[in-house]
Amino acid sequence: MTQPERVPNLFTPARLGAHTLKCRIVFGAHTANMAEGGLPADRHFGYYRERARGGAAMIVVEPTPPHPTAVLTRGNFMADDAVIPHFRRITDECHSHATVMCHQIYHVGAHGDQDNSWSPYWSPSGQVSHHDPWGSHAMSEAEIRELIQAFIDQAVRDRKGGFDGVDLFAGYSCLIDQFWSPLTNRRDDAWGGSLENRLRFVTEIAEGIRKACGPDFIVGMTVSGAEPYPGGLTMADKQEIFAWLDERGLADYFSCGTGSYINRFTAIVPGFHHATPLGTDDAAAIKQVVKHALVTAEARVKTPARAEAAIAGGLCDLVSIVRGQIADPHLANKAREGRADDIRPCISCNQLCIGRRMRDYHISCLVNPSVGREHAWDGDAAPPADKPRHVLVVGGGPAGLETARIAAERGHRVTLVEKAADLGGQFRLAAAQPERDEIGELLGWYRTQLEKLQVRVDLGWEMTAEDIREFGADAVVLSTGSQPTRTGFQRALPHVDALPGAEQENVHAANDVLEGTARPGKRVLLLDDINGWWPASGTALHLADQGHEVTVVTASDKAAEALDGSHLGPSTRERFAKLGVTVICSHTLTRWAGSTATIQNLYTGETQELTFDSLVLATTNTADDALARKLAVDDDIEVHTVGDMVAARTASMAFYEGRALGMTL
Ligand SMILES: Cc1cc2nc3c(=O)[nH]c(=O)nc-3n(C[C@H](O)[C@H](O)[C@H](O)COP(=O)(O)O)c2cc1C
Ligand code: SF4
Repeated sequence: MTQPERVPNLFTPARLGAHTLKCRIVFGAHTANMAEGGLPADRHFGYYRERARGGAAMIVVEPTPPHPTAVLTRGNFMADDAVIPHFRRITDECHSHATVMCHQIYHVGAHGDQDNSWSPYWSPSGQVSHHDPWGSHAMSEAEIRELIQAFIDQAVRDRKGGFDGVDLFAGYSCLIDQFWSPLTNRRDDAWGGSLENRLRFVTEIAEGIRKACGPDFIVGMTVSGAEPYPGGLTMADKQEIFAWLDERGLADYFSCGTGSYINRFTAIVPGFHHATPLGTDDAAAIKQVVKHALVTAEARVKTPARAEAAIAGGLCDLVSIVRGQIADPHLANKAREGRADDIRPCISCNQLCIGRRMRDYHISCLVNPSVGREHAWDGDAAPPADKPRHVLVVGGGPAGLETARIAAERGHRVTLVEKAADLGGQFRLAAAQPERDEIGELLGWYRTQLEKLQVRVDLGWEMTAEDIREFGADAVVLSTGSQPTRTGFQRALPHVDALPGAEQENVHAANDVLEGTARPGKRVLLLDDINGWWPASGTALHLADQGHEVTVVTASDKAAEALDGSHLGPSTRERFAKLGVTVICSHTLTRWAGSTATIQNLYTGETQELTFDSLVLATTNTADDALARKLAVDDDIEVHTVGDMVAARTASMAFYEGRALGMTL
């Protein structure tokens, strides 16, 4: 049994303006994108209530764009008094758990989203947008004043909605810090030039809020460190700015994130390709120069142990753990109780949090399907079953693991049978890809939880239909997953059932490579028919890492295209470039003969022949539903099916279906 982690510094209170934070863990600002008709509704209420119940000392509720030019998503809150009672419902509930409540106000200046805002983007000097190929509007003085008032009006609305303070979005090269930086602020009037002029915009906003909302009302700022591009502000420049604001009492806290709209956009929500923790050094640099405000470190802090180290080391006063508390809303309480082993780890995949936000859906979480469903499901816990039963789960991949865990938590007696020698299914194979050890942490968490819940786990048993009948469980859950398709079928050639040559011995499935059962030759061609999704890109990186010369052929127009939504496309392409992985886009593979591949350009129809030692197939799997078909004839057995065995998809759907089924058994 592991010793409980000691995190004494994390659970000391901190004074923030007129408020006391019960510990150092903040659930920092992020766009959950859950509003309905511009108003926070049940989904938001349940989402924040669960993190307050879970022990977060402070929650910074998702931003409101205070002005029509600032609107970014379909799920943004409206800047209108109609939100006040809805905010009040959330703040009253979270206050009842002794959570301090702030609310972010944001405007990204030049980098807006005209498809949602139907407005030109407003910026200090009309710089180009880094969100899309368009330009922005250089604000007049009257327009600057209009925006300052919009920020103040929103803060007043927030105060009426029960918030203890606001968080001004002043990082990542957005509107407020576009004013700070001479690179983006070329004005020669009272709003540009000298430091004082460049800081006038934020000063007037902060002073206006202090005046309108009173001295007890927290004014925090989300900021970022050095601007990561030539000509950008250095950390020394930023230190000068923060010290200036701090001396004048304009901020109660600075929360320091990473990345920027101008470049390193993906480091704003850094996936598993980034270091852990990522933002603590920048926070420490800010802490060196501010005397009054608290400093919060953000980005890949994730665990209580890392948070404790940062605070104990004097790098910051507070930590913002966003995805860590999305994945486990009770992270703070579990850490306080010395139950770090029970914290469900975020795997830094970005698939359902920022991955869904970028596609303008409300967020959820791959490892925690209750995210966004907290109101409907009463949070992250499972209600006790009316009548405990014996549940047999066949298949120990994501769907089976989650069904077994939830069923056992609800009081059922659960047996989980897996044909392989270890749990995890295809997710275990994904953990073999470079830098994906956080998947291994998640599987370790499942093993611990199943053991604590006394789930009987039988490994190395491929159950037949007869075995299942004889077993005599009250309910049977089939989560037998999916298998590699192995035909080389490609979407671009829907009339070709099988790639000529796919049956050769030097053709392997990506799963076989990750499992280590296939040993491809030196020169590998990887056929990617899944737009660069992890089984393709991750296997290519795995092979390159092991010294193979890897060429990827894909019908996509861009390498690792499917990973862009989850902020991991650029860092995957960076790895391809550094490891010498060649990607041939917009091509299909029409023949594999001996060791010769014939590939065809999708646009011109031209073909060419290339030589490799082996071909690896990363194509859509086929559902493994044989058991379900055999058991369907047995009317007296209660059989349920979940995950890939219903249809081959992502792990997120498997975890979700496992949870949803487990709640109803
Ligand atoms: C879905 C999502 C949306 C985000 N939106 C915002 C936002 O609107 N404002 C903001 O300041 N930060 C936003 N962030 C960044 C987070 O505040 C935080 O800096 C980032 O997630 C890194 O911290 P973490 O590793 O603890 O998740 C967002 C993060 C996520 C996951
Ligand atoms: S979707 Fe992935 S990155 Fe996002 S919170 Fe969940 S596990 Fe973490």
